[in-house]
Amino acid sequence: MALPKLRRRQLLHLSLGTALGWCLLEPWVLEPYWLRIKKLRVGKAISHRIVHISDIHHKGNRRYLKKVVGIVNALSPDFVCFTGDWVEEATHLREALEIMSAIRHPVYSVPGNHDYSSGAAFEAIAQFCQSTGGAWLVDQDTLSRDGQIQIIGATGSQLQLPPLKQSLKRLLLVHYPLFAERAKGNFDLVLAGHSHGGQVRVPFWRALVLPYDVGPYDLGLFQTKAGPLYVNPGIGTFYLPIRAWCRPEITVIEL
Ligand SMILES: [Fe+2]
Repeated sequence: MALPKLRRRQLLHLSLGTALGWCLLEPWVLEPYWLRIKKLRVGKAISHRIVHISDIHHKGNRRYLKKVVGIVNALSPDFVCFTGDWVEEATHLREALEIMSAIRHPVYSVPGNHDYSSGAAFEAIAQFCQSTGGAWLVDQDTLSRDGQIQIIGATGSQLQLPPLKQSLKRLLLVHYPLFAERAKGNFDLVLAGHSHGGQVRVPFWRALVLPYDVGPYDLGLFQTKAGPLYVNPGIGTFYLPIRAWCRPEITVIEL
């Protein structure tokens, strides 16, 4: 039975209003906190499970960061890698570290550009990483707890890398994806953040805007001369608190 003309018009208006409301609300209210867990395998001789997170940009949302910590613990990795940007303002660092201290696995981290520009206390972050059994890697390397992976953190644009241990798996942590092109050596995996995936992406195409030193490595897995590079879209947001077609991500990598 055909709907009366007035009723059809009301339905059309209601549908358009709902669609418009969704388009306006989703990137602001839902997607910035709609965590996605992505799983991938890199290499053939799998021996470790690594959780990769990046770009928390903690601004005081305790509930959200606690949710992240809960998921990380539930994934039960051998260790956690954090590729920079803890905060944008140093005042939030203490709270971020307090919440992250509930992580029950070693955390290895490098600083991001906002950690430098905010003047965040690197000693506090180093202490936190050490308390988890991990390390704060500012142009340093260390071994995973089982001694099977050399984990290297590199920060400067002229990457100063320590001698690579060819008998071990080698994992490079950087903040800027483009640094993978400057890394001399071969790595089993390079992890980076910084891009936020662009935060706003056009479906099946690309991000509208990307920060510097991302190059073509905006989001996901890439093959580079240094080895496989994974770019995580981050946990938090920068500038505008929005995400569209670019959910925050916790990556689980079997290496
Ligand atoms: Fe960031």
